[in-house]
Amino acid sequence: MTPDIMKISAAVRALAFVEPGMRIGLGTGSTAAQFINLLGQEVKKGLDVVCVPTSEVTRAQALALGIPLTTLDDVPFLDLTIDGADEIDKELRLIKGGGGALLREKIVATASDRMLVIADESKLVDTLGAFPLPVEVVLFGLNATRNMIEMLAADAGCQGEIRLRMKVDGTAFRTDSGNAIFDCHFGRIDDPESLDEALKFIPGVVENGLFLGIADAAVIGGREGISVLSATYGEEAEAG
Ligand code: A5P
Repeated sequence: MTPDIMKISAAVRALAFVEPGMRIGLGTGSTAAQFINLLGQEVKKGLDVVCVPTSEVTRAQALALGIPLTTLDDVPFLDLTIDGADEIDKELRLIKGGGGALLREKIVATASDRMLVIADESKLVDTLGAFPLPVEVVLFGLNATRNMIEMLAADAGCQGEIRLRMKVDGTAFRTDSGNAIFDCHFGRIDDPESLDEALKFIPGVVENGLFLGIADAAVIGGREGISVLSATYGEEAEAG
């Protein structure tokens, strides 16, 4: 089974969490995109939901599919957010932001009663950090902010190259909010809570890609079928 099939099977399972009338946060990335396609089909069949996208890419996809959209200004509290992740540990702590949407993703997820993560099994890790941690920063004082990230991350036990994210055309990446991203190649993050606290202390840091205590459940598509992990840290295996 390919990763794409695993993503699709997780997205299919996630549809079961959607109920008529729900206000839903729509994630960003290739796995979330599979879910949004499926949701669009349900909306065409008459499902009544209203959604808040976590990026301009997701907004465009949802609009093209005819999914009704709103904003957190008009609907500040959502029932459910469904989004992908770059890494997921056993405590449902996540690294997100590989696609650069971490700020809006975190705002939308924390405005939601529940966050459901959908992913293929390659995203499950014992220790976070092999995936470079994205840190969204304002453009002013980039080098000063980079130095502070380096120093405070080291205090939290994390060291590694901190790279300004670039686009394939060689220009600097900008988020939907006009900020830059540092990808922090720490290798492993043994104490995510300490690192998160340290990064929040830095004025130039807007947000970081650690999602701690935010995800309520994760639907994981794997070679053996689907498993659902819950934030109570129990695991119910389901028939494939
Ligand atoms: C977007 O900024 C990210 O947080 C994505 O949710 C994450 O990178 C997962 O993307 P894929 O589903 O494409 O792996």
